[in-house]
Amino acid sequence: MRIAFIAGNWKLNKTRPEARALVEALKPLVANAKAEVAVCPPFTALETVGALLTGSNIRLGAQNCCHEPSGAFTGEVSPPMLKDLGCDYCIVGHSERRQYFGETDEGVNKKAKALLAAGIKPILCVGETLAQREANETEKVVERQVCGAYAGLSAADALQTVVAYEPVWAIGTGRNATPQQAQDAHKFIRGLLAKLYDQATAGAVRIQYGGSMKPSNAAELLSQPDVDGGLIGGASLKAEDFAGIVNAAP
Ligand code: 13P
Repeated sequence: MRIAFIAGNWKLNKTRPEARALVEALKPLVANAKAEVAVCPPFTALETVGALLTGSNIRLGAQNCCHEPSGAFTGEVSPPMLKDLGCDYCIVGHSERRQYFGETDEGVNKKAKALLAAGIKPILCVGETLAQREANETEKVVERQVCGAYAGLSAADALQTVVAYEPVWAIGTGRNATPQQAQDAHKFIRGLLAKLYDQATAGAVRIQYGGSMKPSNAAELLSQPDVDGGLIGGASLKAEDFAGIVNAAP
């Protein structure tokens, strides 16, 4: 039985006072959630948000990390530093990082390994662009990204991971994947995990959907058999909207 997992990716938003206000508003709205809930603020708000989450049912996540634990890597933040701030999760390989910051499948794999070594669960993002979908390359692209992310990871490692299927054309566009498109991609990803590991491992890893998820479309997406939660961008910046998605989870 996979427990639904709804995570908010705040991206490049929220100063500390804004982050505080959002979390204070969110806590009571999701206090009775059946789903697991996490928020992923920018690095600068992690400590503030983490302190406010103590004793709540909301977990803390980061949006990115360095592939090394320490050393001469100016401007980077490492998995042990994130662990020190109370992070349980870290998003890796988001399409915005791939698009704007040159992140590669190999880099995603290194970061996943560094996070696992620090005891943080990676949320591994995959997904095709519109051009790739229209060229019928969705499965090829997602297979390359999944196999790249999991290279050298054991089944025990894989059980500590979450996959986020985020079709790039659905991110921030208001155009979500249809429930059937999401289900097809998620089933394909679970099949890849079964090939890389085994059925039990593939059946235990949660696969989130991301891309224009909102309260009005969440229930239908989340009711698909292989959709185990959501990675929420825009709608995670408003407490009522994020809570509406959390409370739509089966
Ligand atoms: P939106 O929910 O704003 O489409 O963003 C999805 C996303 O990129 C989450 O990581």
